[in-house]
Amino acid sequence: MKEDFKDLGRSHMCGNLRLPNVGDDVVLMGWVQRERDLGSLVFIDLRDITGICQVVCDNTVSEEVFKRATKVRGEYVIAVKGQVRERQSANKDIPTGQVEVLVEDLKILSKSETPPIYIRDDDNVSEGMRLRYRYLDLRKPFMQKNLRIRHRAARIIRDFLDENGFIEIETPMLTKPTPEGARDYLVPSRINPGDFYALPQSPQLMKQLLMVAGMDRYYQIARCFRDEDLRANRQPEFTQVDIEMSFVDIDDVIDMNEQLLYRIFKELKGVEIELPIKRMTYREAMQRFGVDKPDLRFGFELVDISALVQESKFRVFSGTIEDGGYVKGINIKGYGDEFSRRDISNLEDYIKDFGAKGLAWLKVTEEGITSPIAKFLSEVELDNILDKMNGEIGDLLLLVADKEKIVFDSLGNLRNRIAKDLNIIDEDDLNLVWITEFPLLEYDEQKNRYVAKHHPFTQPMEEDIHLLETQPQDVRAKAYDIVINGDELGGGSIRISDSELQTRMFAALGFSEEEAQNKFGFLLEAFQYGTPPHGGIAYGFDRLIMLLTNSADIRDVIAFPKTQSATCPLTGAPSEVNEEQLQEIHLKLDV
Ligand code: AMO
Ligand code: AMP
Repeated sequence: MKEDFKDLGRSHMCGNLRLPNVGDDVVLMGWVQRERDLGSLVFIDLRDITGICQVVCDNTVSEEVFKRATKVRGEYVIAVKGQVRERQSANKDIPTGQVEVLVEDLKILSKSETPPIYIRDDDNVSEGMRLRYRYLDLRKPFMQKNLRIRHRAARIIRDFLDENGFIEIETPMLTKPTPEGARDYLVPSRINPGDFYALPQSPQLMKQLLMVAGMDRYYQIARCFRDEDLRANRQPEFTQVDIEMSFVDIDDVIDMNEQLLYRIFKELKGVEIELPIKRMTYREAMQRFGVDKPDLRFGFELVDISALVQESKFRVFSGTIEDGGYVKGINIKGYGDEFSRRDISNLEDYIKDFGAKGLAWLKVTEEGITSPIAKFLSEVELDNILDKMNGEIGDLLLLVADKEKIVFDSLGNLRNRIAKDLNIIDEDDLNLVWITEFPLLEYDEQKNRYVAKHHPFTQPMEEDIHLLETQPQDVRAKAYDIVINGDELGGGSIRISDSELQTRMFAALGFSEEEAQNKFGFLLEAFQYGTPPHGGIAYGFDRLIMLLTNSADIRDVIAFPKTQSATCPLTGAPSEVNEEQLQEIHLKLDV
């Protein structure tokens, strides 16, 4: 049977047959989506990567072939030979629905056990099962479509960057720790007892070396590894589109990347994004939205009412301000009626995760103000708050008093959550914004020192450099993020290319000369041999594909992703190794 299958040869793909093919002799191969045995007729829905086509076996054509057809089951791999004909009752739901193939010959190429998951887009099986049987899960049309879009996106990016003089260069996987600041995945060295490689969190240092090396414009679709807590848009190993350019400043990098983004969205979504993409400073983003990746598809902006309540008898407010905190709020305009006390209490629980101590609220109704805190506030204070927050009948005002960071975190996240709950976001809207002028440094309470907000090679803005020693918290960086619909798609910066400034930066970070040498000595040394001004960016490629495919989960755009706990149910990784292997790499376990 295998023998004559060989000279059968596939002539068409299942999903491509249309009315003009009627009369064609075809050979199709694929998986059995469904079979229906009607006694004298067997209908089979045959599936390959292009789609599904109905094939029909009639016992009057050939007894023997018909008998074989009755043995076919779901997910069997078969080949059929026959002629395309018009279907008597067309199926409007599939592109091939007007035709079918009348089978003359049929071969079973491979049998299948009953699959543990359905090969259907709407199969609501658990994540664990999907990943355990990933090769079956990947047979689902939407997964095949997602991976095809991923492939096309990579091709468009490569074409664009190639046209613009970028060359793709691979950088090592077994390397030194990179400066992104997440936890490293370490690989013990057998040949160098006690020494470890780190898997790269990004190609950052290597791409800067490539600029020193005169490569001018580099890119790579690079795998990166970060041992951090996972979320819906995070994986321990993920892919970046990593870019670096020489002799550039911020606008050069941004312009080039806007062209790239334009091309991607035009070709893959048919959307022409408006150029130039708007820009917003970090400070404005925080003040208005509480987060550095604002979703601009809806309102509910933060309003600072601290000045209105600093003298208030309500100590929750005035006391917080005395201690250097703020009182800010958001107006859920027009949706007051949608929230019961219980709903609001749930929102209060939600923001406690961000450190908030409580959530004060005011509802503006026909009858006046409903609020558990109204009794603590004076008439004038209430009027002022309504005025400043534009509170009108039907509105719900939500207020948080706390340290600024907690106010930002809780209201910023609350704002997003409420918009999702109310289902008011237009999912077809693509709202892009560059966030610029990030702080260069950020104080780390645990480490008791400043850490780099982006990474230690990020260039401060010229006009702020003089503040590096005296007011480090006020120094802004030449760093930028591209944010789409409230998600950080990518980020980058112009780098320090002057070794004196680099030394001052390390001092601000509290690195000793020795520490700096130890960690990044090879880069600092390279910088002594003629360094072009340079800068770049990296996109989360998986996140880009999520956007292009409307996927809510990063796992739906990666062929073999990890679970929430960084495991692979299919292969069983990570797994134990034997004593001998441990000895070879000079390790003893202590678990
Ligand atoms: P950064 O650390 O901001 O910058 O990373 C760039 C982009 O990578 C994506 N990303 C992730 N995607 C999935 N899973 C993860 N765990 C994950 N972590 C990050 C995000 C992010 O915007 N070397 C610098 C770039 C530069 O300066 O050029 C860097 O790595 O979309
Ligand atoms: P209390 O006087 O503590 O019962 O608080 C009265 C109201 O103020 C309750 O609705 C609390 O949720 C709210 N509240 C308490 N602390 C804060 C805070 N830090 N910010 C905003 N509201 C608060």
